[in-house]
Amino acid sequence: MPADIVIRNARVIDGSGSAPFEADVEVKDGRIALVGTAGAGAREIDAKGQVVCPGFIDTHSHDDGAFLRHPDMAFKLAQGVTTDISGNCGFSTIPNEPGRDYMPGDISGPGAEWTDLDSYFEACAAKRPAINNAMLVGHNRVRAHVVGLEKRAATADEVAGMRGHVVRAMEQGAVGFSTGLIYEPGRYSTTDEVVALASECTAYAGIYATHMRNEGDKLLEAVAEAMHIAREAQIPLHISHHKSAGRRNWGRVKDSLAMVDAANAEGMDITLDVYPYTAGSGPMWQYVNLDNIDSEWAMGVMIASCPDYREFEGRMVPDIARDRGWTVEDAVREIVTSPQGRQVICIHFIIDEADIETNLRHPKMLIGSDGIPQLRGMPHPRLFGTMPRVLARYVRERHVLSLEEAIRRMTSASCERFGLVDRGLVNEGYWADLVLFDPETVQDLATYEDPKQEPAGISLVMVNGQVACEEGKHTGVGSGRALRFKR
Ligand code: ZN
Ligand code: CU
Repeated sequence: MPADIVIRNARVIDGSGSAPFEADVEVKDGRIALVGTAGAGAREIDAKGQVVCPGFIDTHSHDDGAFLRHPDMAFKLAQGVTTDISGNCGFSTIPNEPGRDYMPGDISGPGAEWTDLDSYFEACAAKRPAINNAMLVGHNRVRAHVVGLEKRAATADEVAGMRGHVVRAMEQGAVGFSTGLIYEPGRYSTTDEVVALASECTAYAGIYATHMRNEGDKLLEAVAEAMHIAREAQIPLHISHHKSAGRRNWGRVKDSLAMVDAANAEGMDITLDVYPYTAGSGPMWQYVNLDNIDSEWAMGVMIASCPDYREFEGRMVPDIARDRGWTVEDAVREIVTSPQGRQVICIHFIIDEADIETNLRHPKMLIGSDGIPQLRGMPHPRLFGTMPRVLARYVRERHVLSLEEAIRRMTSASCERFGLVDRGLVNEGYWADLVLFDPETVQDLATYEDPKQEPAGISLVMVNGQVACEEGKHTGVGSGRALRFKR
């Protein structure tokens, strides 16, 4: 029987970090059947010397809801992303009580008919999503489910209730537990509460992924807390979107990475992820204290999505304020307290360019977009551009890391970290999640001004052996799968 697809004349970068080599790749029944000299295939693709590598893993996504609302996942697929790790920053869409409104502007998407990971994955499968989905169970969601949005520590009974939901998710194949300790309601939890919940993942070999309690003035204290939690729970630690926010803190990622190196040298198991942009993004109300609005912060804020003031989308807060005759504090208050103010997504310029390079140079640094799939308005360009931006700007132009190393981090290293077996390498027997691209022309095209542009230079993306995107055209084949943690 011939192979389903043969890719000829490929320059294989296999995801292990080793040097490229020339080979053909045979794909059959969803998997890579051969890497070498291929026989005839039912379909033949001439790579013309372009790179063939494993599909990219977006280690930091917020696409739980998008798998149902936008099953074409075009913004990820076009970047070469074949697997999302969703449920980050404590915002998973499980557990769920149908009909319940958990949190204003919840970035994980609206609740629906599912109750747990199994039924969520079933609901996704019915939509035939374009890419694979693996899930972290999120602390903010678990806490909202059990405690509500109360601004207090949880009782012993409530902690026991939350533990049950974490265990249930892990039993059903979640890859770990995530927190967003900067956000409501997670910020009211004690360190011990987080230890108790993270501990429930240990028996399942899950990981603890954290948006730490502080990423600015108290970054190092927050890293110490994250390490304490991982040590107490005896669980690997993954630090999300590592950064040192706010101009006065720029450069301090070196200090937190030094802490990570020292801990790893002593036997801890710590990895991190980063997005290749100097702006963050999230639900605006979560960053604002209405009693004491930080005007320095507000000066660097752009509005991404704002249901009550669509005309503000894509504009900087100080510009909006000037046009309206408001102070920046007034503008922030007006936007956040508007009727649908809690749906507002903002983009804030808080990160140093040099820190991005420091991060990308670190061997334990994986890539995560942190994109928020709110397609109405002007989303942060990272939603569409993260992976090609690493390959274009940081590999080709700035030589911050080699192509083989960048691909290793975006593929095999990420799969290993999140327990995804038989993926992340161009190996015989592995699932055929593959990307074909030209390293000379690959380019992110999404910008803050024009954020919904798909990248250039990626000519083919295959998901589980099926061509999902080719020469910029999405085939709609819908071959993505739910990926459960394998032990
Ligand atoms: Zn986060
Ligand atoms: Cu996030």
